[in-house]
Amino acid sequence: MKICYIFKAMKKASEKHVRLAERYGARNYAPLPVVLNWGSGVFVRDVEGRRYFDMLSAYSALNQGHRHPRILAAAKAQLDRLTLTSRAFHNTEMGPLLERLSRITGMDRAILMNSGAEGVETAIKAMRLWGYRRKGIRDGKAVILAAEGNFHGRTTTIVGFSSDPESYSGFGPATPGFKLVPYGDAAALERAITPDTCGFLVEPIQGEAGVRIPPLGYMKRARAICRKKRVLFCADEIQTGLGRTGKMLCVEHEGVRPDLVILGKALGGGLYPVSAVAGDDEVLGLFSPGTHGSTFGGNPLACAIALAALDVLERERLPERSAELGEYFLEGLRALSHPLIAEERGRGLLLALEFKQPVGRRFCEALMKRGLLAKDTHKTTVRFAPPLVITRKQIDAALDIIGDALKDL
Ligand SMILES: Cc1ncc(COP(=O)(O)O)c(C=O)c1O
Repeated sequence: MKICYIFKAMKKASEKHVRLAERYGARNYAPLPVVLNWGSGVFVRDVEGRRYFDMLSAYSALNQGHRHPRILAAAKAQLDRLTLTSRAFHNTEMGPLLERLSRITGMDRAILMNSGAEGVETAIKAMRLWGYRRKGIRDGKAVILAAEGNFHGRTTTIVGFSSDPESYSGFGPATPGFKLVPYGDAAALERAITPDTCGFLVEPIQGEAGVRIPPLGYMKRARAICRKKRVLFCADEIQTGLGRTGKMLCVEHEGVRPDLVILGKALGGGLYPVSAVAGDDEVLGLFSPGTHGSTFGGNPLACAIALAALDVLERERLPERSAELGEYFLEGLRALSHPLIAEERGRGLLLALEFKQPVGRRFCEALMKRGLLAKDTHKTTVRFAPPLVITRKQIDAALDIIGDALKDL
């Protein structure tokens, strides 16, 4: 009797939170009905005390795991000193972070922003500015090429060049100056370039589209075409960067050095929104005081956290770990057999199961019931992107759950 009462009270706790979110929030997400209040490493817990593997990692913003002690310590120390200065003044944390970003990306300098979408907007401005000032494109005529199936964020300009009706419908008019080319087709990219093209914005792997991996050599060929045609090559590494695919940057798999690299998500160590655009003087050197900025971009709290986040990636060799364990995880997925599985794919710890039917949501619910949180994209794909600190044993346990959940389909 008593146990039944406690169980009911606990269930009420999660129901209350779901109800509040549904009643008072805009309904722009369809979350799984789980309410979380604790996280550590690869695990989270719900308000009823159940533990789950986090296989989404906040869309790869938790590469270092939940509440990494080193990142928490850096944040707490900075909270006790200074949190916000605006860019009207210098602070002690920004310089060291910029220097570290320059080393990691191999670029001359960087601009710090907050969300990923702001990073993308910054890169768009940089490419246009370069187009007018350096390439000599007539004012107002610059065109940026992007790939079909892209996901670069949710601002009006960015959704205006999305090919996903769910993203752009109802939010027009679209900002002019963008054109789409098929993803993975270097020849189509070359054909689409005109004298007015200033940049090509591309994800090395399309994460939100369902972990779409382009044919090997695409990045390299696209990079070479951009160089030949004098077009900036801009890699959106917001999801694929910082170790997720088994290299610090995903473009490194093909030995590509872009003109601009956009980072976000895991740059904030799972604590705080931090994004950055890195590039050479030729491009980022064109910004002058007053042409771009952000009240919170480059604030000392964000910078202290981002420095610690990068420290953890390097000290714990998380990109290498992601490469090794990603292969192990993929082998495990391939060993699962189910008539509804169309494909298993992945690079590093960015993996996906592709189903022949739109069972993604149902499969995620079956996983949740068994203690693993993942999210479907586009109904037929379920992505697995655990924190990179996951162990081999934990992957084994996760694969057992995944295999068992397939029985529900
Ligand atoms: C490749 C890519 N670019 C940009 C974004 C947008 O980042 P944010 O949600 O932080 O604005 C995302 C988010 O999923 C992304 O995956």
